[in-house]
Amino acid sequence: MSSAADQQDTAKTAPCIKILTLFPDMVRTVLETSIPGRAERQGQVRYEVVDIREFSVDKHRTVDDTAYGGGAGMIMMAKPVVEAVESVRQNNDATVILTTPQGETFDEALTLELLEDLQLKGEIILICGHYKGIDERAIELVVNREVSIGDYVLSGGELPALVVADALVRRIEGVLHNEDSANNDSFTTVRGGGLDCQWYTKPPEFRGLTVPDVLLSGHHGKIAQWRDEQAKERTEVRRPDLRQTEETDDKSRKR
Ligand SMILES: C[S@@+](CC[C@H](N)C(=O)[O-])C[C@H]1O[C@@H](n2cnc3c(N)ncnc32)[C@H](O)[C@@H]1O
Repeated sequence: MSSAADQQDTAKTAPCIKILTLFPDMVRTVLETSIPGRAERQGQVRYEVVDIREFSVDKHRTVDDTAYGGGAGMIMMAKPVVEAVESVRQNNDATVILTTPQGETFDEALTLELLEDLQLKGEIILICGHYKGIDERAIELVVNREVSIGDYVLSGGELPALVVADALVRRIEGVLHNEDSANNDSFTTVRGGGLDCQWYTKPPEFRGLTVPDVLLSGHHGKIAQWRDEQAKERTEVRRPDLRQTEETDDKSRKR
């Protein structure tokens, strides 16, 4: 059991996820909740939420302006975004991610890559865009990765940044307890990159629907085999694109 002093030291050295946003309260509320909140309280991760308006160009806290060349929609100015990044970046090699529908798609592989990056460099910076997006020069100056959470357009980058933060935090070793373990969730190597199986809890019968007998048998080997088969069948039916050959399955298990 670690002492209070040990826990404080761990908290100071825990990797830090830094989110730059125009809506700090929205971001903080989510980060304080559920597993991301618990991880911070346990000292396994730290968060820094930066209000981009703190770096605005005037007393009205302006951070956006009209587009050169005309057109509908405002653009976030380069100065506040660049200065906000510079104010929080401690490691010059830190990965600075712009959330944008034009970025690489966020998935399991990218989650693990960014998690390794966060642990290696001690920080990761996420910029939430708004309006039509941010001045391209800010991207050239401080962004080294662009990430999309899917082919649709949201009003702002807060939800995408929180999606990335949540996905990373739950994969930090020790964050998840047994009851919410990520080991055999969809896309993990245990599932061969495929989908998870279906799950049931008490009671054994609900509105005439019963739990499969095997799950009540107490036979751990048979239960594991059934879950594995169900997961494979689901993957085949719902996401055949995730199907892996035995060979690639073996390789990914060894990783
Ligand atoms: C209205 S969007 C801008 C869309 C941009 N003009 C385009 O069409 O590519 C405003 C902000 O929301 C965020 N955003 C919207 N959809 C996103 C997605 N699918 N993935 C990641 N970020 C997204 C980005 O930060 C973006 O700067």
